[in-house]
Formats: sequence, C-alpha cells, structure tokens
Amino acid sequence: MSQNIEKIAVLTSGGDAPGMNAAIRAVVRACSYHNITCIGVYKGYEGLIHNNLEELNARSVRNVINKGGTFLKSARSKDFRTEEGRKKAYDNLIANSIDALIVIGGDGSFTGALKLSQEFNFPVIGIPGTIDNDINGTDFTIGYDTALNTVVEAIDKIRDTASSHNRLFLIEVMGRDAGDIALNAGIGAGAEEILIPEENLGVDRLIESLRKSKESGKTSSIIVVAEGDTSGKNIFELGEYVEEKLEDDYEVRVSVLGHIQRGGSPSCYDRVLASKLGVGAVEALLEGKRDVMIGIVHKQVTVVALTEALQKRVHKHDQLIKVADITSV
Ligand code: F6P
Repeated sequence: MSQNIEKIAVLTSGGDAPGMNAAIRAVVRACSYHNITCIGVYKGYEGLIHNNLEELNARSVRNVINKGGTFLKSARSKDFRTEEGRKKAYDNLIANSIDALIVIGGDGSFTGALKLSQEFNFPVIGIPGTIDNDINGTDFTIGYDTALNTVVEAIDKIRDTASSHNRLFLIEVMGRDAGDIALNAGIGAGAEEILIPEENLGVDRLIESLRKSKESGKTSSIIVVAEGDTSGKNIFELGEYVEEKLEDDYEVRVSVLGHIQRGGSPSCYDRVLASKLGVGAVEALLEGKRDVMIGIVHKQVTVVALTEALQKRVHKHDQLIKVADITSV
C-alpha cells in the first residue's frame, strides 16, 4: 500500500557531478506537474540535520540545466553517519510534513538513505549522480559522460606537448574504485597504456610494453592511470620507476587532472539522463515505490532496489580492455 505523497524533499550528496542541477530541476518540475510540494535541502544530509530547507517551485530551477555543480550544494556528512544525526534528520523531515526523500549521489549517499529508511521506515529514492560511473544496476551515472569529455579534452592538450618534446606522460584521472573514466577516456584519447583498479597486470608488464612501443617507432606516450590503480605505487612513484627503467627512451612527466574533472557545463547526454531519472524518481514515488534507485539500463529508465544498487558492481571491461590493447599497438 502506498502512502499519499504530497511533499517531497530533494538533496544532492557526496562528490558533485555535472548534471546534478538538471536532475534537481527535473524533480522539482515533475513535482510541480503532479501538484506535489517540493522542498530543496541545502548541503546534503547536513542540511537535513540543521533544517536548512527551502520550498522550490518550477521557476526556482530556471536556467540551471546548463550549469555544472549543484545549486543545492553538496557535502559528505560525518554527522549523518551517526544514529543521532539520522534521528535529527528524520525529526526535521517529520516536522516539515515531508513524505519522501530523493537523494542524488553515489554509493555513500545511498548507504545513508537506506539507513534512514530502515531505522525510521521513511521512504527514500536514489538517483545515481557521480562522475565515477561505479553504481551497480545502472549503465550510466549522471556526470560521467561530461567528465569523460573533460578528460579527453585535457589529454588531447597534454598529447600536443608530449609529442613536441618526445615525452612520456602519466596522467591520473579520478576513480577510486572504478576504471570507467580511465578506460573510456584512455581509449578516446588514444592512450598507449591504461591502468585501472579492476585489473593489475603489474609494473613489469607496463615497462615491457612501453619498450615495445618505443621499438615500434613511437616517440611519445600517454599512460592513463585511474586514481584507484592497484599497482602498489602512487603516480609519482610510478613515474620515477618508469623513468629509471626507460631512462634512455623517454623523459617522463606526471600530470594529475584532479577536480577539474568534476566541473563544467553538463553534456547533452547528462542533461537528458538527469531529466529522465529526475522525472522517474517522482513517478516511482507516486506509484508507491520506495527504497529504490532509478537507473538507466539499455536506454530504458529502470527501478532497482537500493540494496542491489549498493552491491559491488561486476565490471564488464573485458571488451574495452581488448580494444585498448589492439588500438594502442
Ligand atoms: O566520487 C567522486 C570522486 O570525484 C572520486 O572520483 C574521487 O576519488 C573523490 O570523489 C574525491 O572526493 P573529494 O572531492 O571529497 O576529495
């Protein structure tokens, strides 16, 4: 049995991602379309704990679809990890007569949402928003496509200087636990080597492969390294190791792209994805669904249990790894 949904709160949590504004906009406008009051929560779960709320209407979200970041702000709330913090958040939801909460964020944010639901029987819905694309049960997360394009653009620029100086560049991209950005941007930017957390072939294979590249006539090289690479060396140590082993072949430089990857105007793909998932979240609540994530699978909006979304993702990188190997000979 579904309870009557008359007032929905929405927040963004964890690392921001381009397209979060478009998702908030879609939630707000779907609420307006269905005559539901929409409350924006500022600063993620922190805002719930401190009652930092504001009613949003269709006009509150004008001119935000094209903006990076999140106008509701985001945070990684320490207090919400405690039962006491979640109780305060729940009390504020009830005091404000809010019937359900939509959380736009990644796995940490979904863990918090599920706890709130389990401890207080409060309906929650998750929308996957993270540049990492590391959520189970959805093909894509909001912000990932934009981040990929940002990374490819940055690597293209580095390639210009790498080839002018016959240098080898190690470029670190984001992705603590997932190699999606590294692998896809690496292929898109024509990297010679791509190191991802899901596959550790060892540094000796890397050196061997770079030697072969040199012998085949390559004069510069790009190695894309995911932040969560498991080779056992950080990118600077890896750079020193490569330089030591290949000192006659290449001059080595290291570049860490960092938070530039999280900014910028969202791509059209992310805007449309965010719009679909935002509308899907409100409609799922109206259909009586709760404790689910709204995702996208084979281009269709889908509903999966939050417990499933929080399962470890089985990566399907094999085809891409092969493509990367073949296209970098
Ligand atoms: O989860 C998204 C992400 O950008 C990761 O790729 C990265 O490891 C992390 O956030 C960085 O977090 P922060 O901005 O808190 O340093």
